[in-house]
This record gives sequence, C-alpha cells and structure tokens, in this order.
Amino acid sequence: MRISPFFLSTLCVGIGIVSSQLADVDRMQHDLAKFLSIARYNETQKAQARAGIKMALDSVGLPSMTHTFIHEETNEIGMNVIAVHRGPYYGTADDKLIVIMWIVDIIMIGVDDNGSGVAALLEAARIMVTLDALYRRQHSIIYLFADMKHKGLAGSHAFVEDVLLPLLQRSNSTIAGAVVVDGLLHFDPFPSSQAMPDSFTDTFPDSSKELHDHKHMGDFIQVTSRDKKDEAIFHKYPKFLLKLA
Ligand SMILES: *[C@@H]1O[C@H](CO)[C@@H](O)[C@H](O)[C@H]1NC(C)=O
Ligand SMILES: *[C@@H]1O[C@H](CO)[C@@H](O)[C@H](O)[C@H]1NC(C)=O
Ligand SMILES: *[C@@H]1O[C@H](CO)[C@@H](O)[C@H](O)[C@H]1NC(C)=O
Repeated sequence: MRISPFFLSTLCVGIGIVSSQLADVDRMQHDLAKFLSIARYNETQKAQARAGIKMALDSVGLPSMTHTFIHEETNEIGMNVIAVHRGPYYGTADDKLIVIMWIVDIIMIGVDDNGSGVAALLEAARIMVTLDALYRRQHSIIYLFADMKHKGLAGSHAFVEDVLLPLLQRSNSTIAGAVVVDGLLHFDPFPSSQAMPDSFTDTFPDSSKELHDHKHMGDFIQVTSRDKKDEAIFHKYPKFLLKLA
C-alpha cells in the first residue's frame, strides 16, 4: 500500500472554480435534502430513494431500469438502478464502456453515507448529458446505483453477472474502467478538523506525522493505492488534480 497526502489550499480553490462552471451545487443539495437524507435500511425506505434516483435520471433524459436480483445466501430480493448513456458505438466491439457507480444502501448515518455520492453521481450524469451537446462522446457510460453493498456487495456482483458480462459477450465491447464514488470530499481548513484512527498511525507512520505537523487540518487530498498494481494511476491522479489547481 502506498499513500501520498498532499496539502494544497490552492487545489481546492481550483476545483471550486472548475466545478462551479459545471456542477450545480444547489441541485445536489436539493437531492440530498429531498430524498437522499432518508435512511435506507429497509425496503420501504430504499424504494423511496430508488424512486427519487429514477426521477432525477429521467429529468436529465436518461431512462433507467430496475435490476432485481436475489441474494445468493439470504434469498433477499435486492434492486439496482441502472442507466445506460449510449455512445455512438453502443453494442459493438468498438465501444469501451465506462461504469460509474455508487451504493444505495447505507450503514452509517452521516452526510456521506446518507447520499453525497449519489448526489454527485446524479450530477455527473446530468453534466455528461449536457456536454453531449458540445462534444462527441466516444464511449457509453453505465450509471449503476447498487443495492446491498453491506451484504457482501451482492448488488455489484449481480450487476456484473446479470448485466455487464452478458452485454460484453453479446456485443464484444470492452470495459475502459470503473469509477466507484463512495462519497464527496469534505474541505475543512481548521486545525483539528481531520481525525485519524489509531490503525492509520500504525500503518502509515510518515503520513500521520505529516498530518500531525499540519495541525490535523482537513485541507488535503489523500491518495491511497496498492503497490505495483495501481502504479500508473497512482502517479497520474495527483498530477491531474494539480493541473486543475
Ligand atoms: C442522515 O440520515 C439520518 C437517518 O435518517 C437522519 O437522521 C440525518 O438527518 C441524515 N443526515 C443528513 C445530513 O441528511
Ligand atoms: C422501515 O423503517 C422505518 C423507519 O425506521 C419504519 O417507520 C417503517 O415502518 C419500516 N418499514 C418496514 C416495512 O419495515
Ligand atoms: C463478437 O466476436 C465473435 C468472435 O470474433 C463474432 O463471431 C461475433 O460476430 C461478434 N459479435 C458482434 C456483435 O460483433
């Protein structure tokens, strides 16, 4: 595991500028307050959240489907919401699909697990649809709102087996990549705003010393990756963010 926190107040200013041109923060706040702040533990609550997500996708012109599956061990019924944003090569060997996903059921109560990732994903979908008017998008995007993360990632597994693999087989399309949005960034430049679990100090002594010297301010982005396997993206990602700044 490698880790590289970098402390940058200008970075956040940079991202603020870029995102304010595109992302509609009011809309994300509306989604969060309206249907993503309800708990999503039981079926009634999840159905409400699902309906909200489907309506939001509909309103940007992306029809969605509900993918129903049965948890292999518990036999519980789960439901994913999937929207396919087709590119010009959809259904052919020239398509390189991009999967962007978030998990709809929650386990903790907090802004993040309450839905900031879903709000971001819906906003990303809206922006991508808008950008289609300006740019010629090459590849198809699949938006997945997966159920049952906290039950062995059952929704994601079912999506891969029931939807994604059959689609790849049928069309000979390939996968360019997947983005799993777990939550949004929180920026807090005040001392002591960033806590660390004890295990973090043990696993990443250098980074935790750096954070300590930085007065535990939450004004940094931390990039964590596996050794070797993620080498390429590990170096690209911070460079990309610096470029935004
Ligand atoms: C998150 O969900 C809980 C449980 O429904 C709720 O009490 C809380 O207000 C929510 N928080 C936010 C920030 O929406
Ligand atoms: C789901 O949870 C809510 C809030 O705890 C509760 O009011 C509702 O009765 C529950 N519904 C079912 C079907 O268990
Ligand atoms: C996919 O590839 C196989 C093997 O090359 C070919 O027989 C089939 O026609 C292809 N299907 C499509 C939809 O391109």
